[in-house]
Amino acid sequence: MVGLFDSIKINSLEIKNRILMAPMATGLAGEQKGEVTDKLIKHYADRAEKTGIIITEHNYIEPVGRLHKGQMGIYSDSLTPGLKKLVKAVQDCGTPIGIQISHAGGVASSSLVGQPPVAPSSIPGGKETPRELTESQIEGLVEKFGQAAERALTAGFDLIEIHGAHGFLLNQFFSPITNKRKDNYGGSLKNRIRFPLQVAKRIREIVGNDFPLEYRLGSVDLTPGGITLEDSEVFAKELVWAGINSINVSGGLCGASPPSLSGEGFFIPQAEAIKKAGKAIVIGGGGITTPEFADKVIKEKRVDMVFIGRAFLKDPKWAANAAKKLKKE
Ligand SMILES: Cc1cc2nc3c(=O)[nH]c(=O)nc-3n(C[C@H](O)[C@H](O)[C@H](O)COP(=O)(O)O)c2cc1C
Repeated sequence: MVGLFDSIKINSLEIKNRILMAPMATGLAGEQKGEVTDKLIKHYADRAEKTGIIITEHNYIEPVGRLHKGQMGIYSDSLTPGLKKLVKAVQDCGTPIGIQISHAGGVASSSLVGQPPVAPSSIPGGKETPRELTESQIEGLVEKFGQAAERALTAGFDLIEIHGAHGFLLNQFFSPITNKRKDNYGGSLKNRIRFPLQVAKRIREIVGNDFPLEYRLGSVDLTPGGITLEDSEVFAKELVWAGINSINVSGGLCGASPPSLSGEGFFIPQAEAIKKAGKAIVIGGGGITTPEFADKVIKEKRVDMVFIGRAFLKDPKWAANAAKKLKKE
Protein backbone atom coordinates (compact mmCIF):
# COMPACT_ATOMS: atom_id res chain seq x y z
CA MET A 1 0.00 0.00 0.00
CA VAL A 2 1.38 3.41 -0.97
CA GLY A 3 1.95 5.69 2.01
CA LEU A 4 3.41 9.07 2.94
CA PHE A 5 7.02 7.96 2.52
CA ASP A 6 6.65 6.38 -0.90
CA SER A 7 8.06 8.25 -3.87
CA ILE A 8 5.99 9.91 -6.57
CA LYS A 9 6.62 11.55 -9.92
CA ILE A 10 5.26 14.90 -11.06
CA ASN A 11 5.93 14.82 -14.79
CA SER A 12 9.71 14.24 -15.04
CA LEU A 13 10.43 15.07 -11.38
CA GLU A 14 10.96 12.16 -9.00
CA ILE A 15 10.02 13.15 -5.44
CA LYS A 16 11.21 10.96 -2.59
CA ASN A 17 8.01 11.14 -0.51
CA ARG A 18 4.57 12.74 -0.57
CA ILE A 19 5.22 15.67 1.77
CA LEU A 20 4.94 19.08 0.10
CA MET A 21 5.81 22.08 2.21
CA ALA A 22 3.00 24.52 1.39
CA PRO A 23 3.74 27.98 0.02
CA MET A 24 3.75 30.40 2.95
CA ALA A 25 4.62 34.08 2.86
CA THR A 26 7.43 34.83 5.29
CA GLY A 27 7.97 38.57 4.75
CA LEU A 28 11.71 37.78 4.75
CA ALA A 29 12.54 38.96 1.21
CA GLY A 30 14.00 42.44 0.61
CA GLU A 31 11.59 45.13 1.89
CA GLN A 32 11.66 47.29 -1.24
CA LYS A 33 12.52 45.01 -4.16
CA GLY A 34 11.56 41.51 -2.98
CA GLU A 35 15.01 40.02 -3.52
CA VAL A 36 16.14 36.81 -1.81
CA THR A 37 17.88 37.42 1.52
CA ASP A 38 20.08 35.23 3.72
CA LYS A 39 17.24 34.95 6.26
CA LEU A 40 14.92 33.69 3.55
CA ILE A 41 17.45 31.09 2.38
CA LYS A 42 17.90 29.89 5.96
CA HIS A 43 14.13 29.66 6.46
CA TYR A 44 13.76 27.25 3.54
CA ALA A 45 17.01 25.29 4.03
CA ASP A 46 16.04 24.70 7.68
CA ARG A 47 12.86 22.97 6.49
CA ALA A 48 14.36 20.82 3.73
CA GLU A 49 15.46 17.73 5.64
CA LYS A 50 13.40 14.72 4.47
CA THR A 51 10.78 17.02 2.91
CA GLY A 52 9.50 15.69 -0.43
CA ILE A 53 9.38 19.12 -2.06
CA ILE A 54 9.32 22.71 -0.86
CA ILE A 55 7.13 25.26 -2.62
CA THR A 56 8.19 28.84 -1.97
CA GLU A 57 5.81 31.55 -0.91
CA HIS A 58 4.08 33.67 -3.58
CA ASN A 59 6.39 35.66 -5.89
CA TYR A 60 4.91 38.70 -7.64
CA ILE A 61 5.32 38.66 -11.39
CA GLU A 62 4.97 42.43 -11.89
CA PRO A 63 5.27 45.36 -9.47
CA VAL A 64 1.54 46.20 -9.56
CA GLY A 65 0.78 42.62 -8.48
CA ARG A 66 2.69 42.93 -5.23
CA LEU A 67 0.73 42.23 -2.04
CA HIS A 68 3.01 43.14 0.83
CA LYS A 69 6.44 44.39 1.86
CA GLY A 70 9.05 41.68 2.18
CA GLN A 71 7.25 39.57 -0.46
CA MET A 72 9.47 37.61 -2.85
CA GLY A 73 9.55 38.98 -6.40
CA ILE A 74 10.23 37.42 -9.81
CA TYR A 75 9.32 40.44 -11.94
CA SER A 76 12.85 41.31 -13.10
CA ASP A 77 15.97 39.51 -14.34
CA SER A 78 17.93 41.30 -11.63
CA LEU A 79 16.27 38.99 -9.07
CA THR A 80 17.40 35.76 -10.72
CA PRO A 81 20.87 35.47 -9.10
CA GLY A 82 19.28 35.60 -5.62
CA LEU A 83 16.68 33.00 -6.61
CA LYS A 84 19.53 30.79 -7.88
CA LYS A 85 21.18 30.91 -4.46
CA LEU A 86 17.95 29.88 -2.77
CA VAL A 87 17.49 26.97 -5.18
CA LYS A 88 21.04 25.74 -4.61
CA ALA A 89 20.73 25.92 -0.81
CA VAL A 90 17.62 23.72 -0.80
CA GLN A 91 18.80 21.33 -3.51
CA ASP A 92 22.08 20.87 -1.60
CA CYS A 93 19.94 19.34 1.17
CA GLY A 94 18.72 16.74 -1.34
CA THR A 95 15.29 18.35 -1.68
CA PRO A 96 13.69 19.80 -4.80
CA ILE A 97 12.17 23.26 -4.67
CA GLY A 98 9.28 24.75 -6.63
CA ILE A 99 8.38 28.41 -6.90
CA GLN A 100 4.92 29.88 -6.58
CA ILE A 101 4.28 32.74 -9.00
CA SER A 102 1.45 35.15 -8.38
CA HIS A 103 -0.32 38.42 -9.01
CA ALA A 104 -2.40 39.96 -6.23
CA GLY A 105 -4.76 41.72 -8.65
CA GLY A 106 -7.50 43.74 -6.99
CA VAL A 107 -6.34 43.15 -3.45
CA ALA A 108 -3.05 44.99 -3.93
CA SER A 109 -2.97 48.56 -2.63
CA SER A 110 -1.89 51.78 -4.32
CA SER A 111 -0.07 52.88 -1.16
CA LEU A 112 2.36 49.99 -1.79
CA VAL A 113 2.43 49.68 -5.59
CA GLY A 114 2.11 53.38 -6.46
CA GLN A 115 -0.96 53.06 -8.67
CA PRO A 116 -4.48 51.68 -8.30
CA PRO A 117 -4.56 47.87 -8.42
CA VAL A 118 -5.89 45.95 -11.44
CA ALA A 119 -8.59 43.28 -11.49
CA PRO A 120 -11.08 41.57 -13.81
CA SER A 121 -13.75 44.07 -12.75
CA SER A 122 -13.79 47.45 -11.13
CA ILE A 123 -15.65 46.45 -8.00
CA PRO A 124 -14.46 46.99 -4.45
CA GLY A 125 -12.99 43.85 -2.91
CA GLY A 126 -9.71 44.66 -1.29
CA LYS A 127 -8.61 47.90 0.26
CA GLU A 128 -9.76 50.04 -2.70
CA THR A 129 -11.65 49.85 -5.98
CA PRO A 130 -9.37 48.39 -8.70
CA ARG A 131 -9.09 49.30 -12.38
CA GLU A 132 -10.66 46.86 -14.84
CA LEU A 133 -8.05 45.21 -17.06
CA THR A 134 -8.46 45.65 -20.82
CA GLU A 135 -8.17 42.61 -23.10
CA SER A 136 -4.77 43.74 -24.32
CA GLN A 137 -3.58 44.21 -20.74
CA ILE A 138 -4.73 40.65 -20.00
CA GLU A 139 -2.68 39.42 -22.95
CA GLY A 140 0.27 41.38 -21.59
CA LEU A 141 -0.12 39.67 -18.23
CA VAL A 142 -0.05 36.24 -19.87
CA GLU A 143 3.38 37.24 -21.24
CA LYS A 144 4.51 38.51 -17.84
CA PHE A 145 3.61 35.18 -16.24
CA GLY A 146 5.61 33.58 -19.06
CA GLN A 147 8.63 35.78 -18.39
CA ALA A 148 8.47 34.90 -14.70
CA ALA A 149 8.49 31.22 -15.69
CA GLU A 150 11.60 31.80 -17.82
CA ARG A 151 13.35 33.34 -14.84
CA ALA A 152 12.29 30.41 -12.66
CA LEU A 153 13.85 28.04 -15.20
CA THR A 154 17.06 30.06 -15.32
CA ALA A 155 17.24 30.04 -11.52
CA GLY A 156 17.03 26.23 -11.57
CA PHE A 157 13.69 25.64 -9.82
CA ASP A 158 12.42 22.07 -10.09
CA LEU A 159 8.75 23.01 -10.47
CA ILE A 160 6.57 26.06 -11.04
CA GLU A 161 3.31 26.52 -9.16
CA ILE A 162 0.85 29.06 -10.58
CA HIS A 163 -1.10 30.73 -7.76
CA GLY A 164 -4.79 30.48 -8.57
CA ALA A 165 -6.21 30.62 -5.04
CA HIS A 166 -6.91 32.82 -2.02
CA GLY A 167 -8.66 35.66 -3.83
CA PHE A 168 -5.68 36.79 -5.95
CA LEU A 169 -5.80 37.71 -9.65
CA LEU A 170 -6.35 34.29 -11.26
CA ASN A 171 -8.90 33.38 -8.58
CA GLN A 172 -10.57 36.77 -9.19
CA PHE A 173 -11.09 35.82 -12.85
CA PHE A 174 -12.46 32.37 -11.99
CA SER A 175 -14.86 33.62 -9.32
CA PRO A 176 -18.27 35.01 -10.34
CA ILE A 177 -18.10 37.24 -7.25
CA THR A 178 -15.10 39.22 -8.46
CA ASN A 179 -15.52 38.75 -12.22
CA LYS A 180 -18.45 40.72 -13.66
CA ARG A 181 -16.97 41.16 -17.15
CA LYS A 182 -19.17 41.10 -20.22
CA ASP A 183 -16.45 40.14 -22.73
CA ASN A 184 -14.66 36.84 -23.52
CA TYR A 185 -13.16 36.78 -20.03
CA GLY A 186 -16.39 36.94 -18.01
CA GLY A 187 -19.85 35.46 -17.62
CA SER A 188 -19.80 31.74 -18.40
CA LEU A 189 -17.49 29.32 -16.61
CA LYS A 190 -15.65 28.82 -19.92
CA ASN A 191 -14.94 32.54 -20.11
CA ARG A 192 -13.97 32.93 -16.44
CA ILE A 193 -11.29 30.23 -16.70
CA ARG A 194 -9.94 31.55 -20.03
CA PHE A 195 -7.20 33.75 -18.55
CA PRO A 196 -5.85 31.15 -16.04
CA LEU A 197 -5.79 28.57 -18.86
CA GLN A 198 -3.94 31.00 -21.16
CA VAL A 199 -1.36 31.50 -18.42
CA ALA A 200 -0.94 27.74 -17.95
CA LYS A 201 -0.61 27.15 -21.71
CA ARG A 202 1.90 29.96 -22.18
CA ILE A 203 4.06 28.67 -19.34
CA ARG A 204 3.87 25.13 -20.72
CA GLU A 205 5.13 26.43 -24.10
CA ILE A 206 8.07 28.07 -22.36
CA VAL A 207 9.10 25.24 -20.03
CA GLY A 208 8.75 22.39 -22.55
CA ASN A 209 6.96 19.07 -22.21
CA ASP A 210 8.83 17.48 -19.32
CA PHE A 211 8.96 20.26 -16.76
CA PRO A 212 6.59 19.89 -13.76
CA LEU A 213 3.86 22.49 -13.71
CA GLU A 214 1.46 22.88 -10.81
CA TYR A 215 -1.64 24.98 -10.19
CA ARG A 216 -2.78 26.14 -6.75
CA LEU A 217 -6.50 25.92 -7.11
CA GLY A 218 -9.01 27.94 -5.14
CA SER A 219 -11.49 25.10 -5.41
CA VAL A 220 -14.34 26.77 -3.53
CA ASP A 221 -14.82 30.41 -2.58
CA LEU A 222 -16.53 29.60 0.73
CA THR A 223 -18.71 32.64 -0.03
CA PRO A 224 -22.34 32.55 -1.24
CA GLY A 225 -22.56 32.98 -5.03
CA GLY A 226 -18.91 32.01 -5.47
CA ILE A 227 -17.01 29.16 -7.15
CA THR A 228 -18.49 25.72 -6.49
CA LEU A 229 -16.70 22.40 -6.40
CA GLU A 230 -18.53 21.40 -9.57
CA ASP A 231 -17.00 24.42 -11.36
CA SER A 232 -13.58 23.35 -10.09
CA GLU A 233 -14.01 19.79 -11.32
CA VAL A 234 -14.56 21.15 -14.84
CA PHE A 235 -11.67 23.60 -14.46
CA ALA A 236 -9.32 20.84 -13.21
CA LYS A 237 -9.87 18.83 -16.40
CA GLU A 238 -9.16 21.91 -18.51
CA LEU A 239 -6.02 22.65 -16.51
CA VAL A 240 -4.67 19.21 -17.37
CA TRP A 241 -5.44 19.86 -21.05
CA ALA A 242 -3.56 23.14 -20.74
CA GLY A 243 -0.46 21.33 -19.51
CA ILE A 244 -0.80 21.28 -15.72
CA ASN A 245 0.62 18.14 -14.06
CA SER A 246 -0.38 18.65 -10.43
CA ILE A 247 -3.11 20.53 -8.60
CA ASN A 248 -2.58 21.82 -5.08
CA VAL A 249 -6.09 22.18 -3.75
CA SER A 250 -6.99 25.05 -1.45
CA GLY A 251 -9.90 27.46 -1.26
CA GLY A 252 -11.45 30.62 0.14
CA LEU A 253 -11.59 34.02 -1.52
CA CYS A 254 -10.56 35.63 1.70
CA GLY A 255 -6.84 34.91 1.97
CA ALA A 256 -4.62 32.01 2.88
CA SER A 257 -6.24 30.53 5.99
CA PRO A 258 -10.03 30.82 6.08
CA PRO A 259 -10.89 31.34 9.77
CA SER A 260 -14.00 29.15 9.59
CA LEU A 261 -12.00 25.98 8.90
CA SER A 262 -10.45 23.75 11.51
CA GLY A 263 -9.46 20.16 12.18
CA GLU A 264 -7.03 18.02 10.20
CA GLY A 265 -7.50 17.90 6.43
CA PHE A 266 -10.11 20.61 5.94
CA PHE A 267 -9.53 20.77 2.18
CA ILE A 268 -9.15 17.00 1.70
CA PRO A 269 -12.80 16.49 0.56
CA GLN A 270 -12.33 19.08 -2.20
CA ALA A 271 -8.99 17.55 -3.20
CA GLU A 272 -10.56 14.11 -3.31
CA ALA A 273 -13.25 15.39 -5.69
CA ILE A 274 -10.62 17.02 -7.92
CA LYS A 275 -8.65 13.76 -7.97
CA LYS A 276 -11.75 11.87 -9.11
CA ALA A 277 -12.44 14.48 -11.79
CA GLY A 278 -9.18 14.33 -13.67
CA LYS A 279 -5.75 12.97 -14.34
CA ALA A 280 -3.57 15.36 -12.36
CA ILE A 281 -1.48 14.49 -9.32
CA VAL A 282 -3.56 15.97 -6.50
CA ILE A 283 -2.19 17.56 -3.37
CA GLY A 284 -4.54 18.07 -0.44
CA GLY A 285 -4.35 19.22 3.14
CA GLY A 286 -5.35 22.03 5.44
CA GLY A 287 -4.79 21.84 9.18
CA ILE A 288 -2.65 18.70 9.03
CA THR A 289 -0.41 18.39 12.06
CA THR A 290 0.18 14.66 12.51
CA PRO A 291 2.11 12.31 10.20
CA GLU A 292 -0.42 9.58 10.99
CA PHE A 293 -3.24 11.61 9.44
CA ALA A 294 -1.08 12.49 6.42
CA ASP A 295 -0.14 8.84 5.91
CA LYS A 296 -3.77 7.74 6.23
CA VAL A 297 -5.14 10.07 3.52
CA ILE A 298 -2.44 8.85 1.14
CA LYS A 299 -3.04 5.19 2.01
CA GLU A 300 -6.76 5.65 1.47
CA LYS A 301 -5.89 7.12 -1.97
CA ARG A 302 -7.92 10.24 -1.20
CA VAL A 303 -4.99 12.41 -2.38
CA ASP A 304 -1.60 11.74 -3.99
CA MET A 305 0.40 14.11 -1.79
CA VAL A 306 -0.25 16.26 1.27
CA PHE A 307 0.61 19.90 1.79
CA ILE A 308 1.84 20.85 5.21
CA GLY A 309 1.89 24.54 6.10
CA ARG A 310 1.79 25.91 9.60
CA ALA A 311 3.05 22.66 11.11
CA PHE A 312 6.33 23.37 9.24
CA LEU A 313 6.49 26.88 10.71
CA LYS A 314 6.11 25.41 14.19
CA ASP A 315 8.52 22.53 13.61
CA PRO A 316 11.09 23.03 10.82
CA LYS A 317 11.95 19.33 11.13
CA TRP A 318 8.33 18.23 10.62
CA ALA A 319 9.24 15.84 7.79
CA ALA A 320 12.27 14.35 9.56
CA ASN A 321 10.19 13.88 12.73
CA ALA A 322 7.38 12.34 10.69
CA ALA A 323 9.86 9.81 9.28
CA LYS A 324 10.92 8.91 12.83
CA LYS A 325 7.32 8.60 14.04
CA LEU A 326 6.29 6.41 11.12
CA LYS A 327 9.60 4.49 11.33
CA LYS A 328 10.61 5.45 7.79
CA GLU A 329 14.09 6.79 8.54
C1 LIG B 1 1.71 32.69 7.21
C2 LIG B 1 1.05 32.04 6.03
C3 LIG B 1 1.37 32.49 4.76
C4 LIG B 1 0.79 31.88 3.63
N1 LIG B 1 1.17 32.27 2.38
C5 LIG B 1 0.71 31.60 1.30
C6 LIG B 1 1.24 31.87 0.01
O1 LIG B 1 2.14 32.69 -0.18
N2 LIG B 1 0.70 31.16 -1.03
C7 LIG B 1 -0.28 30.22 -0.85
O2 LIG B 1 -0.74 29.61 -1.83
N3 LIG B 1 -0.74 29.93 0.37
C8 LIG B 1 -0.26 30.57 1.45
N4 LIG B 1 -0.68 30.22 2.69
C9 LIG B 1 -1.64 29.10 2.83
C10 LIG B 1 -0.92 27.79 3.10
O3 LIG B 1 -0.22 27.37 1.93
C11 LIG B 1 -1.92 26.69 3.50
O4 LIG B 1 -2.82 26.47 2.45
C12 LIG B 1 -2.71 27.04 4.76
O5 LIG B 1 -1.85 27.53 5.76
C13 LIG B 1 -3.47 25.83 5.30
O6 LIG B 1 -2.58 24.75 5.51
P1 LIG B 1 -1.98 24.42 6.97
O7 LIG B 1 -3.16 24.26 7.86
O8 LIG B 1 -1.18 23.16 6.79
O9 LIG B 1 -1.16 25.58 7.40
C14 LIG B 1 -0.14 30.83 3.81
C15 LIG B 1 -0.47 30.42 5.10
C16 LIG B 1 0.12 31.00 6.20
C17 LIG B 1 -0.23 30.50 7.57
